[in-house]
Amino acid sequence: MYPTQQSDSGDLNVVADFRSDTVTRPTPEIRALMATAPVGDDVFGDDPSINHLESFAAEMMGFEAALFAPSGTQTNLIGLMTHCQRGDEYIVGQEAHTYKYEGGGAAVLGSIQPQPLNNQPDGSIAIKDILAAIKPDDCHFAKTRLLALENTIGGRVLPMSYVKEATDAVKQRGLATHLDGARLFNAAVALGVEPHHIARSFDSASICLSKGLGAPVGSLLLGNKDFIKAARRYRKMLGGGMRQAGVLAVAGEYVLKHHVERLAEDHYHAKRLAEGLASTGVLKVTEPQTNILFVEVPQEIATEFAAYLQQQRILVTGTTLQRWVTHLDVTRSHVDESIRIVRRFFEGA
Ligand SMILES: Cc1ncc(COP(=O)(O)O)c(C=O)c1O
Repeated sequence: MYPTQQSDSGDLNVVADFRSDTVTRPTPEIRALMATAPVGDDVFGDDPSINHLESFAAEMMGFEAALFAPSGTQTNLIGLMTHCQRGDEYIVGQEAHTYKYEGGGAAVLGSIQPQPLNNQPDGSIAIKDILAAIKPDDCHFAKTRLLALENTIGGRVLPMSYVKEATDAVKQRGLATHLDGARLFNAAVALGVEPHHIARSFDSASICLSKGLGAPVGSLLLGNKDFIKAARRYRKMLGGGMRQAGVLAVAGEYVLKHHVERLAEDHYHAKRLAEGLASTGVLKVTEPQTNILFVEVPQEIATEFAAYLQQQRILVTGTTLQRWVTHLDVTRSHVDESIRIVRRFFEGA
């Protein structure tokens, strides 16, 4: 028997795990599919489940081809290395995952120079800043090759008009474009558009199967046939060529088919949680656009409040600035129970 999903957080001693949408456990349906997945050696191109997932995802997202890899960090890095040669440069936001949270992989492993620019409060990078950062073709400078955007970024959705304008503007200057779409499906659901409408502005995109969608492992890089052919070499170089990983691919394909629309539920839970936390009158909560909310806790109570949450088995990240993330394994009753517990802290204060 598998533990039932949606009714507990995996660990029965936890009220709810809001640390990230990466903490979800595979549902019984996913585990059953994994147990019977047809497999082969994917480095030889023999895994039918991976081949099927790659063509399914490419078609769904409006690209010619796709490449399955173990993580979003790896699909982003493969994407950057496929676009940029040693000594090239990519323009990226200061807050972007590829720049800030991936161990500096583009610079360390790809010899790609990042040109980080400030993100605006809405998560975008001002187009005038992007254009001003493109370097002239002069031997003093790295060659500016690529713009990388992220959507959603810190739970914020980039407006469609901005994405089109930014990508069009850099294409006119000869740059390529990459989207870190680890949470692209959250953006699509929040905007009420098909996921491929967001992805199609970019030359390449990475999407994650193991965040809001709830597969245990996996990410896909999307691009045209030549790009993905070149990317396959980098995946091997980086150690991402897996063998009988069809057991993972069937989970990925299942969640692409069944877990996209339900993200609306996570967004609703985030709003409900935000209202509940704000109703304490003490916590300052950003209004969530998707499944991520940030909570400012007054400095003088931050350590005590964090310890209280921990002791009550409500898991979050951060102390004075907390991040709460809703996902497949967080139900409405988890949200309501968590609000009750939080309110008790302030009522008792
Ligand atoms: C926006 C974004 N991009 C990429 C990644 C990397 O994904 P992974 O954890 O699969 O390497 C993450 C992970 O949290 C992320 O939030």
